[in-house]
Amino acid sequence: MRCSAPLCSTSVVVAVAEHEDHLLAAEADELDRAAEAALRPRRLDEFIGQPVVRDQLSLVLDAANARSKPPDHVLLAGPPGLGKTTLAMIIAGEVGGSLKITSGPAVQHAGDLAAILSSVQEQDVLFIDEIHRLARPAEEMLYLAMEDFRVDVVVGKGPGATAIPLTLPPFTVVGATTRSGLLPAPLRDRFGFTAHMDFYSEAELELVLTRSARLLGAELQPEAATQIASRARGTPRIANRLLRRVQDWAQVRGTGALDLDAAMAALDVFEVDRRGLDRLDRAVLRALCERFGGGPTGLTTVAVAVGEEPETVETVAEPFLVREGLMVRTPRGRVATAAAFSHLGLTPPTSPGMLWE
Ligand SMILES: Nc1ncnc2c1ncn2[C@@H]1O[C@H](COP(=O)(O)OP(=O)(O)OP(=O)(O)O)[C@@H](O)[C@H]1O
Ligand SMILES: [Mg+2]
Repeated sequence: MRCSAPLCSTSVVVAVAEHEDHLLAAEADELDRAAEAALRPRRLDEFIGQPVVRDQLSLVLDAANARSKPPDHVLLAGPPGLGKTTLAMIIAGEVGGSLKITSGPAVQHAGDLAAILSSVQEQDVLFIDEIHRLARPAEEMLYLAMEDFRVDVVVGKGPGATAIPLTLPPFTVVGATTRSGLLPAPLRDRFGFTAHMDFYSEAELELVLTRSARLLGAELQPEAATQIASRARGTPRIANRLLRRVQDWAQVRGTGALDLDAAMAALDVFEVDRRGLDRLDRAVLRALCERFGGGPTGLTTVAVAVGEEPETVETVAEPFLVREGLMVRTPRGRVATAAAFSHLGLTPPTSPGMLWE
């Protein structure tokens, strides 16, 4: 049934409102997934930044190519939104096989993995996202498949069950994880190469943004790219998301040009400040600096002061504040640094012990 116009526009508003809340989250939401496919680099030489990973990967791929063999299994480790899925697709493209995609949470039984593995052809790339969330029996099956290119398919149940060995063609597993520390050592050891993805520099994000704008059919002015890049938390996904908001502003309230005015105004509307902090981040810092003299203050107290759940403060706001050196977690509580005071335009307290330098 076709929905009526008012209902449709309400649902759009709700979707946008939910999205705004997560403007600076590194994790992808539905809108990102829809927009990202068109922006992913398809070849290694189009992939911006991560020079060390690119260099290592191109060596691994070229060597495999020279030997006419599939490359070693590759583990891509790093925070969300830095390009792990993009690299997995690039690897499949460079190897020339087809890409099969699954994820740790999707493979709950060894049988699920056996079904995927039995359809793998020579030179294929099997991409397992969130590989740290694989169920244990599937993980054990994967060890064997990665090392010996073999799986034992169990037929039947109980004492009459028999394992039928199935030989697999040479293929490559590409695993991605945001939590490499959770990966059991035997699984980690079966990857011939681990790529550690790092946050992007502002200059690299400017290149990502300029490229994305071009693919979206727009021209991003360099000053606007600089502004967006400096607030994107070192993460291409966030940079691309901010670019879409700047485009919205330019189209609806500006001249259509992606210039400095549009960038500044859009970032202002969405309350993203010059260091990439949003409203909640600033509220946490303000509470710490203004109400509690810089801390140390317990997480629950900070959360009550900003009207949020402790878990939200801990998982949404704190990681970036700590990474930026604006806040420190100590055994006695949260402490604002001198940088936090100066970011808020406040004078740091002078009494020793109040402030974590
Ligand atoms: N090096 C890069 N150059 C250009 N664009 C990039 C680069 N890395 C990532 N991107 C863009 O950022 C977006 C997010 O990247 P991707 O989905 O690969 O991240 P991810 O590491 O897999 O994230 P997650 O951990 O959430 O799965 C993609 O749309 C891609 O266009
Ligand atoms: Mg991904």
